Amino acid sequence: MATSKVKLSRWFLAVVAVVLSQVFTVTCLSEAELLIQFKGTLENNGGLSNWDTKTPPCNGDKENWVGVLCDKGNVWGLKLENMGLKGSINVAALSQLQDLRTISLMNNDFTGSLPQVNKLGALKSLYLSHNKFSGEIPSSTFEGMLSIKKIHLADNQFSGSIPASLAGLPKLMELMLDKNQFSGQIPDFKQDRLNSINLSNNHLEGPIPASLSKVNKNSFAGNEGLCGGPLEKCPEPEKSEPKLSVGTIVIVVIAVVIAVGAIIAVVVILRRRKTAPQQEAMLGGSAVIQHGHNGAPAGDLDKLERGMSPDRGSEGKKGDQNIKLSFLRDDVGKFDMTDLLKASAEVLGSGTFGSTYKAALSTGPVTVVKRYRHMNNVNKEEFHEHMRRLGRLNHPNVLPIVAFYYRKEEKLIVSSYVHNVSLAVHLHGNKSRGQPSPDWPTRLKIIKGVSRGLLYLYNSLPSLVAPHGHLKSSNVILNESNEPMLTDYGLLPVVNLEQAQEQMIAYKSPEFKQHGRITKKTDVWSLGVLILEILTGKFPSNFLQQGKGSDGDLATWVQSIVKDEWTADVFDRDMTGTNHCEGEIMKLLKIALDLCEPEIDKRWDIKEAVDRIEEIKERDDGGGDDYFSSYTSETDMRSSRGLSEDFINVPMNG
Ligand SMILES: *[C@@H]1O[C@H](CO)[C@@H](O)[C@H](O)[C@H]1NC(C)=O
Repeated sequence: MATSKVKLSRWFLAVVAVVLSQVFTVTCLSEAELLIQFKGTLENNGGLSNWDTKTPPCNGDKENWVGVLCDKGNVWGLKLENMGLKGSINVAALSQLQDLRTISLMNNDFTGSLPQVNKLGALKSLYLSHNKFSGEIPSSTFEGMLSIKKIHLADNQFSGSIPASLAGLPKLMELMLDKNQFSGQIPDFKQDRLNSINLSNNHLEGPIPASLSKVNKNSFAGNEGLCGGPLEKCPEPEKSEPKLSVGTIVIVVIAVVIAVGAIIAVVVILRRRKTAPQQEAMLGGSAVIQHGHNGAPAGDLDKLERGMSPDRGSEGKKGDQNIKLSFLRDDVGKFDMTDLLKASAEVLGSGTFGSTYKAALSTGPVTVVKRYRHMNNVNKEEFHEHMRRLGRLNHPNVLPIVAFYYRKEEKLIVSSYVHNVSLAVHLHGNKSRGQPSPDWPTRLKIIKGVSRGLLYLYNSLPSLVAPHGHLKSSNVILNESNEPMLTDYGLLPVVNLEQAQEQMIAYKSPEFKQHGRITKKTDVWSLGVLILEILTGKFPSNFLQQGKGSDGDLATWVQSIVKDEWTADVFDRDMTGTNHCEGEIMKLLKIALDLCEPEIDKRWDIKEAVDRIEEIKERDDGGGDDYFSSYTSETDMRSSRGLSEDFINVPMNG
């Protein structure tokens, strides 16, 4: 026993010694030796013939070797341009050059995929333009490059999405990706130093992120599908009109402008006869006409600003009920219409019923102002009463309405601003924003929050057939801790029926399709659809594209998911944190499908639906104790490969 122990420990020491000596030699390679290693894997490297260990690469600030940049005897850069270089780039060798901060391999013949540049964590600039690199760049490729300021990858053959990790680089100033084959959407670059960017001549599409709206439009040229920012406005996402030619649109716009102008003029003249001039509400179109803002309206925000110009507003304020905001809550600092008019407004989106603006008041609160048309069938008293009812609601998962404004032609509803994004963006837009897709625990939390909010609406608004009526992912806002808040609820009684039937989710339900009515279980169905969207990551796009009562509808979308159910491919591949949760995820999927039951009699009511959802646990064993074990990088890496693998052994009767 004793001798074998001694032997073992000797053997162990020997191993340690070998390992140490390895480490030692590795760390002790000189800059010259490392560069020779780097040269060794390059092809066509004749231009580097004076790279030779007989002289050191650097002599003070001067280089002995071609293409080496020196600083006090150390290599801080490599500038190997126009040399016909190809072969492979030995990043491992480069990563040991302690002082290396910049690399340029521009105008060479390198092919294949982008090297693993994030091993060069201290790099400040990387120039690889004008080569023949190709393929997709994994989204995490630039993670951890906290010092990098300049990245030039122009004129290569890169494809796939622009890697999301670029959007997270804190110091990025220059990004050249032009003349490649990048596709998909532009990530949401937030860096304010990023002042030089060129994305031209790719296959990018979708909206240009707001942060890049000031960039020269040349930088986006040659991408067929881009819109917004310096380019033309994006089409409204939820509008469902068939595609029209530009000519038709122009004619329609002109016709509408003329018609609206005429109507407003008539209204103004009629009202002039009846009322004293200063009593006129200066909101809306009348102000536009009267005060000679000529030229076509340039957009909703513009109209809002012009229509609500502060001087006009305050003039008519005294004694005129019309332009007073009606407040519903005391816990929010009061402001009046004038403040709102003066606030800097930013368009957040244009939805089904009108536009949404973010208005930052100089006095403090940031609010969201939603402007509704299509509510002109209710009279003032009805509208006031209904708003007061909604204003009394108070639940953590329901976004409170702070104030409202009534005018016959349009209504404004003001709510507090929640600094985050809608669930729709969180589910479908995160890749382009450079953020991870929500993991399973987050998704479950969102689903539970939404159902609690919905149950609360049912209990608080018992007289409404569909207390929400328009439940969908873009009407769920997430706050900083991913707590969901419902918006656009309770509007069924005030929206014009025709508009409601065309646009609102409740009217997409099977019961409306089949029997022309909505019921107390209709919102339950919408909840089911929403859960399916959250679990599958699939956007019910059929419905959104088709809209107007067509048959490519939500119910068909649900059917397509039912078909996939047993293949397990149905789940969102980007949903991580799923290990040891497969059974619960499966249960939730079945609940969602039950909520989508087309036959009303068989569909659960809201109470039962929420009870069943509340039973779902985060993990299969139900123990919250080793919650974090599912977050080790290994398991998350496994699960990020896709749920299907994890699901192979799951019994389907769970
Ligand atoms: C962007 O790159 C293109 C070449 O793809 C070039 O023609 C254009 O001038 C560049 N634009 C800017 C703003 O740098």
